[in-house]
Amino acid sequence: MSGSGIFAEIIDGDVFNYYADGKWNKSSSGKFVPIINPTTRKIHFKVQACTQEEVNKAIESAKIAQKLWAKTPLWKRAELLHKAAAILKEHKAPIAECLVKEIAKPAKDAVTEVVRSGDLVSYCAEEGVRILGEGKFLVSDSFPGNERTKYCLTSKIPLGVVLAIPPFNYPVNLAVSKIGPAIIAGNSIVLKPPTQGAVAALHMVHCFHLAGFPKGLISCVTGKGSEIGDFLTMHPGVNCISFTGGDTGIAISKKSAMVPLQMELGGKDACIVLEDADLDLVAANIVKGGFSYSGQRCTAVKVALVMESVAETLVKKIKDKVAKLTVGPPEDDCDITPVITESSANFIEGLVMDAKKKGATFCQEYRREGNLIWPLLLDNVRSDMRISWEEPFGPVLPVIRINSVEEGIRHCNASNFGLQGCVFTKDINKAMLISDAMETGTVQINSAPARGPDHFPFQGLKDSGIGSQGITNSINMMTKIKTTVINLPTPSYTMG
Ligand code: G3H
Repeated sequence: MSGSGIFAEIIDGDVFNYYADGKWNKSSSGKFVPIINPTTRKIHFKVQACTQEEVNKAIESAKIAQKLWAKTPLWKRAELLHKAAAILKEHKAPIAECLVKEIAKPAKDAVTEVVRSGDLVSYCAEEGVRILGEGKFLVSDSFPGNERTKYCLTSKIPLGVVLAIPPFNYPVNLAVSKIGPAIIAGNSIVLKPPTQGAVAALHMVHCFHLAGFPKGLISCVTGKGSEIGDFLTMHPGVNCISFTGGDTGIAISKKSAMVPLQMELGGKDACIVLEDADLDLVAANIVKGGFSYSGQRCTAVKVALVMESVAETLVKKIKDKVAKLTVGPPEDDCDITPVITESSANFIEGLVMDAKKKGATFCQEYRREGNLIWPLLLDNVRSDMRISWEEPFGPVLPVIRINSVEEGIRHCNASNFGLQGCVFTKDINKAMLISDAMETGTVQINSAPARGPDHFPFQGLKDSGIGSQGITNSINMMTKIKTTVINLPTPSYTMG
């Protein structure tokens, strides 16, 4: 059960505490933030509404803790991360239960998220030991006009305090994808979890607490975005921001100080289907890619661009598979569960109604109960419909029929987003040329877009983000190069 057993100390009455200075605290604000269960649409959990003063203190102790942590041997940092990963995996059930209640993640996927997170943390520990244990050695006489009198040694040093802001759809996994790299690299972390997903995140943070990290090194502040959001992202004590979410990221990047930013801000991931594609494979990937977690993934297939000659057959295959998706509560492990909030459901409905008005073909009847929206495939979508360009973040997938590959690429590249895309064909040469032409951070050949495995580079172009993620890239991003130059006296004699 959430908030019980080893997690008993993270809750006070019926409000979950925030974590700072190595302990669980009640906010002096006396206020809480309610967390609405997307399924029941009733308050399920409450978290502390931290004040700006409490944020200041968390950042101050993060600053102090980081100085010592940076001097802690790398192998010791790795050891503690492995310990936290093991505790996290051992306690996957209560954490997954929070994900089910807070974000309506299907039960099995919720467990998978926690296990994946444990694996990610362990991989960070191993990768960090490998890449941070290495530096560079340069000599001066490779640059014109220089003698061999300067030896340059480089190593990677931490940035300081990293602010981590993960999104609601992976409140545990996309939190540890920031915490793991930051901590192994010698930084401290201030985590601001999403409101929905905050309780799962607090449970995850408790696993790090139990692993025995020094006090102040990791903190987790909860609260209203209006009170502590800008305050955190514009705080002079923050040395790096790693954010995953919507276009709030664009606002953060405009307001933040001169600190390294890692931003992942969504996508309109296109799936281009050629005439020679294996249509059963395409249908399976489009359904999994488009509808898993009810389409609430930045890497979900968000528009299928299908060659007209195979569109009829493919749409029929997708339709048959969509009919088999189960719809209902996350506790029953249904494929399609309620979307995160009522306003998200309203937004999705707005896109659907716009497509209806403009003449899209509905492969199923549109159905909605509360936040639950039945999976919907829209065929014959045209580019004057909002759904062609906007990200529904829901179980609605548009199919645009195309007459040439170029038309598909043009549509993909006309988007403001550029996260991932995919192409289905048996011709590897064509696939490579299309991949080159698609303006997205990643192109998957013959599979749906996906972030994982978590050590692969993951990055968006255009409005989809700044910087590259994936474990190795995140560790590197959360470090700076430090150079020491040994200046030798000019030899007064000739050797040899
Ligand atoms: O929602 C954004 C996530 O980074 C997507 O991750 O591809 O593992 O579902 P995923």
